[in-house]
Amino acid sequence: MAALTLFSPAKINLYLRILRRRADGYHELETVMAPLSFGDNITLEPQKSGVALTCSDKNLPADDTNLAVRAAKLFAERMKIRGRGVKISLEKRIPLAAGLGGGSSNAATVLLGLNELWDVGAPLEKLHEIAADLGSDINFFLQKSAAICRGRGEMVEPIPCSVRAKVLLVNLGFGISTKWAYEKWAAMAKNAPTLTAPAPESRLLVAALERGDVEKLCGALHNSLEKLALEKFPILQLLKDFLRENGAAGALMSGSGATVFGIFEEGAALDAVVDKLRAEFGADTWTAVAQIATAP
Ligand code: C5P
Repeated sequence: MAALTLFSPAKINLYLRILRRRADGYHELETVMAPLSFGDNITLEPQKSGVALTCSDKNLPADDTNLAVRAAKLFAERMKIRGRGVKISLEKRIPLAAGLGGGSSNAATVLLGLNELWDVGAPLEKLHEIAADLGSDINFFLQKSAAICRGRGEMVEPIPCSVRAKVLLVNLGFGISTKWAYEKWAAMAKNAPTLTAPAPESRLLVAALERGDVEKLCGALHNSLEKLALEKFPILQLLKDFLRENGAAGALMSGSGATVFGIFEEGAALDAVVDKLRAEFGADTWTAVAQIATAP
């Protein structure tokens, strides 16, 4: 088969509630994620054997620690592939360690792509099994719609989404380690359980997504990991305030951060907002404008 080029979307967490720390060290979650129209591109080219990766972003290791390479190798091992290899070219746009699911999305896209490229025909359940062994957010990206995810994130239930809105993503250039964020939350929950603010119910957010009600959606945004990140990096609070003061109906940190997103009306003109943002937060502030991808 000839080369395949696939879109590998970013996600935002519209809702992330940590329920408890589990005995295996992971955290039991309830999270609502939405795929975006913004993301990376991945090209898969057949080669005789082995897995090779080239990446447009030199800050991302292209060795066996890269989640896209790990996904390809695990897929080949589990599906007992012999005499086939792949050259993966990753055109990276999603910032690294940003809470936008870039690595997980790339891994899921590689699983879906290799299933096609190598003509394996593995059922989706098999891909879900491999995905769950690679990480917590990869299962979400095996399907293309908004979803509520449970367990450590790997149990995915697609939900209808008719929201039409623009999303402005802003990343100030520093990353937050997911492991650090969860450990901080666990320490806080243990030492000062009253500080874990009660979360709005996820069903309010799910209902607003289904009805396409942007105002209600913004009223139900929640992220249990946000408070700790805002304490360590107070500039993130200023960024959220900026977005709200400049027309966003809601603003939240995505996942374990440090990307913050603002949700705007579908017709909002964001060029002036981005100019003002760069003037206030720095000329090299990273931004992207995306749509929440509606159900296919
Ligand atoms: O599974 P993944 O590799 O994406 O997770 C990265 C880290 O985030 C884990 O090693 C763990 O420390 C933390 N994590 C967690 N609970 C989750 C998901 C991730 O504690 N549900």
